[in-house]
Amino acid sequence: MRVLGIETSCDETGVALYDTSVNDNQGGLLGDALYSQVAMHAEYGGVVPELASRDHTRKLLPLITQVLDEAGLSRQELDGIAYTAGPGLVGALMVGASTAHGMARALGIPVLGVHHMEGHLLAPMLEDEPPAFPFVALLVSGGHTQLVEVQGLGRYQLLGESVDDAAGEAFDKAAKMLGLAYPGGPQVARLAEQGDPKRFRFPRPMTDRPGLDFSFSGLKTHTLTAIRRLEADGELDQQARADIARAFEEAVADTLVIKCRRALDQTGLKRLVVAGGVSANQRLRERLAQETAKRNARAFYPRGRFCTDNGAMIAYVGAQRLLAGERDAGTMLAIPRWPL
Ligand code: KG4
Ligand code: ZN
Repeated sequence: MRVLGIETSCDETGVALYDTSVNDNQGGLLGDALYSQVAMHAEYGGVVPELASRDHTRKLLPLITQVLDEAGLSRQELDGIAYTAGPGLVGALMVGASTAHGMARALGIPVLGVHHMEGHLLAPMLEDEPPAFPFVALLVSGGHTQLVEVQGLGRYQLLGESVDDAAGEAFDKAAKMLGLAYPGGPQVARLAEQGDPKRFRFPRPMTDRPGLDFSFSGLKTHTLTAIRRLEADGELDQQARADIARAFEEAVADTLVIKCRRALDQTGLKRLVVAGGVSANQRLRERLAQETAKRNARAFYPRGRFCTDNGAMIAYVGAQRLLAGERDAGTMLAIPRWPL
């Protein structure tokens, strides 16, 4: 089954082709393309929903044509279409959903709306050595921070999640406070490389009590207070900003690592999948590598460009579900808030 995947939930237009008849997962991916709107939104310091929808409208059809052309396939050779049905920005979601439904109707093939976070969750399945089920997954993106026990496709149990800001959101807000451009995660990480990890110690929220939930809004306040104090003392130079970035990154990474450790202990599992935009963070990866090595466990990541939003993960999940006979019944779906 050849499935076209469409991702338009936020500020990246992603398109990919996945073929379920190719045995290894890596080979099943026939092509993928991404158009990032990041530069456009950076001017406003964050995603402007209306502009995002308009840009998806401009870029989606050309990207679909590009991916099909590069794979040497015609539209008529598609067997199904999958699109991100949510969660995300409703206008942005509707661009992908209506395009998918229109194309599927014209071609007389099945169409299915899939969950964006399920895409992130299973993105490591596209790698050379995919994790076997069951595993623990840490989903860390701009909108979500969740720990999930994954028994198989569609068999997910939420172990814990953020009660306020997502980890990526906290990175973006800290970046803004430090005068860095959107999206802030990679910028904070870059600045943190020059930082002294010993100068400041930020709190590790909710790690002093049992449980697998997270909270990152206090860390944001802590960062702002530290910046203001240095500013008032006339000490907010480039080194101080780097030291704050480092303290912030260490606190987020450490908090995530502590909860992952707990989740592995609680479930008795030895495989940890880490996905979503923040999984690109190198410091987090180093820390997780140390922890997993200690307990004979292993961490799995998507390749760099599939850590953030992309069409490949949607094509993959959609292909598995379409193959199992799932289809949208009639109307298109665009669900801004949708638990996994
Ligand atoms: O998964 P994603 O592309 O979009 C959502 O579904 O939200 O994640 C984007 C988030 C942003 O908050 C961005 O700042 C963060 O991932 N991010 C990072 C890094 N790269 C992206 N955070 C920390 N370190 C990074 N290297
Ligand atoms: Zn995402």
